[in-house]
Amino acid sequence: MKTVNFSLDGKIALVTGASRGIGEAIAMTLAEYGAQVVLVSRKLDVLKDVADKIEKAGGVAVPVVCHMGKQDQIGDLFKELKDRFGRLDILVNNAATNPYFGDMLGADEGIWDKTNDVNLKGPFFMIQHAAKLMTETGGGSIVNVSSVNGISPALFQGIYSITKAGLISMTKAYAQELASSNIRVNALLPGLTETKFSAALLSNDDIYKYAIGKIPMNRHAQPTEMAGAVLYLVSDAASFTTGTCIACDGGMLI
Ligand SMILES: NC(=O)c1ccc[n+]([C@@H]2O[C@H](COP(=O)([O-])OP(=O)(O)OC[C@H]3O[C@@H](n4cnc5c(N)ncnc54)[C@H](OP(=O)(O)O)[C@@H]3O)[C@@H](O)[C@H]2O)c1
Repeated sequence: MKTVNFSLDGKIALVTGASRGIGEAIAMTLAEYGAQVVLVSRKLDVLKDVADKIEKAGGVAVPVVCHMGKQDQIGDLFKELKDRFGRLDILVNNAATNPYFGDMLGADEGIWDKTNDVNLKGPFFMIQHAAKLMTETGGGSIVNVSSVNGISPALFQGIYSITKAGLISMTKAYAQELASSNIRVNALLPGLTETKFSAALLSNDDIYKYAIGKIPMNRHAQPTEMAGAVLYLVSDAASFTTGTCIACDGGMLI
């Protein structure tokens, strides 16, 4: 028996945005530590590839399609989850969108709605569904993947940054409300990480130099460098931790 328990044996975990990038890395790690992982995104074929990788590594994964901006699909996802497993122990709200790069004065209502639907409304109702299911089986743990930009807004990514700040607030509000149901809610704040999401930024020399100039460790991260913090937060190692944010950002928020 170890003094600190990171094992997820017997747990059912759901990770959104698990088809690539940070979500894929988180899903791989949760599976490696024993959880059966439900992989969610909009594209079944890509999710199946991730599920194959997890199974080849000895884990168990189930791909399920769900668009985070569509409430009917979120309802169907939880119906399927309940029918199939009867429980949910871990939810990682990782999927997000950032459809607009530019000043806020030039953004239209469609951009505002799309960003808020996927980055805020989706996670809000995912947690509402998850918490009802978790309450029936004694509790659980939730991690919202926000961003350093939820604390320090990124230039030309104002609306995205606003949604990420909202997600931090949502984390604390739900943590307060759900503590008595034995459900912990925390947030991960990734810094600049090499994924499709950040590809435009990483491939532009001027923007990259500007971004790296704000990071004391003077480099960007790989997706796997985000997974350890999520493992900690969802495991019993963090049994007294709720409503907090862990930044994995190379020191950007110092
Ligand atoms: N990369 C960074 O530098 C960075 C920094 C700070 C925070 N983050 C945050 O980290 C999280 C993951 O980002 P990433 O960099 O790994 O991005 P990514 O590589 O672009 O992956 C995004 C994931 O979200 C899924 N997704 C997008 N829209 C969706 C929707 N409407 N419904 C369901 N799934 C959707 C995508 O899958 P499909 O296309 O298959 O649907 C994909 O699996 C995001 O919350 C992001 O804000 C990233």
